[in-house]
Amino acid sequence: MRILLQRLDGKEAEWISEFAGQLPEAEVIAWREGESIPDCYYAAVFRPPAAMLGDLGKVRAIFNLGAGVDALLKFGEALPAHVPLVRLDDAGMGVQMAEYVSHAVLRHFRRFDDYEAQARAGIWQPLPAFDKVDFPVGVLGLGVLGTRVLDALAQFEFPLRGWSRSQKHIDGVDCFAGEEGLEAFLRGTRVLICLLPLTQDTHNLLDRARLSMLLPGAYVINVARGAHLAEPDLLSLIRSGHIAGATLDVFRNEPLPQQHPFWQEPRITITPHVSANTLRRESVAQIAAKIRRLQAGEPVAGTVNRLQGY
Ligand code: NAP
Ligand code: GLV
Repeated sequence: MRILLQRLDGKEAEWISEFAGQLPEAEVIAWREGESIPDCYYAAVFRPPAAMLGDLGKVRAIFNLGAGVDALLKFGEALPAHVPLVRLDDAGMGVQMAEYVSHAVLRHFRRFDDYEAQARAGIWQPLPAFDKVDFPVGVLGLGVLGTRVLDALAQFEFPLRGWSRSQKHIDGVDCFAGEEGLEAFLRGTRVLICLLPLTQDTHNLLDRARLSMLLPGAYVINVARGAHLAEPDLLSLIRSGHIAGATLDVFRNEPLPQQHPFWQEPRITITPHVSANTLRRESVAQIAAKIRRLQAGEPVAGTVNRLQGY
């Protein structure tokens, strides 16, 4: 069995060695533009270039080395429709996302952002504590990562809310669904966490109109994709005072350009798309297990529904 591997980070050798340890029956070869490729059963890719699409049409399944598949589905009909696309589900990303988001929520709720500013100015001044009753935390997207984040936040006893496409029932979480549930969800949310896949329906979802529905003093945490958020709208709502600040891990253009106004806004915390990294050992373990299931003719979790876009 041969697997075609494509990476952007030049770490093909490390991935090949990981596959050799965990799936010794497979030969893994690195894809290189312009080189002829022997027949492969499977492909494991991360944001592949258009030049790879022809080779992807010849495999039995494409494994995406990440959770979000927007960088593949953007190819539309050029992405071979007959080949199943399988994303990573969790593979060690859930706990990372729970750490990142819990930190961002607690940092703002416990006023560490204000105390950091005070400390830089040499000010010793206790500030009024926020009350959790005034801090409903809402998660957009109740999938693998959204539910893991809610589990983590439940430990801190925040009022919790969630929004998804289909109606969910989660203990301790007020669940809203669909277009019809979005406004009620937003109007009762103080801390907004975006964990949606990027699809036609969710592109630009967080624009001025929707961000304005959040409770006054809202805080925005975007760990999904930059294109969910209308960046100038967030900035102007922060400047007008309706939104207190944001922690952003993803941006329209990555790396975030040096001249982008977010860099100059102290109420925005920026990280370079690191909230939940693809972990090599865990990802290869998951893909190896899924390949064994596919070889046995069994279905695998994380198979993308192309009509839904995730
Ligand atoms: P997932 O398991 O597929 O969950 C997606 C959730 O979003 C589901 O609950 C789904 O609703 C909901 N949803 C999708 N379209 C919707 C719509 N139009 N309206 C309302 N809800 C909608 O995905 P995941 O594994 O949790 O990952 C989520 C996203 O996180 C990924 O797509 C990726 O973009 C991002 N991510 C970012 C990083 C990072 O480092 N920044 C790392 C990993 C992932 P249903 O349950 O009803 O289907
Ligand atoms: C990272 O952003 C991912 O989608 O896995």
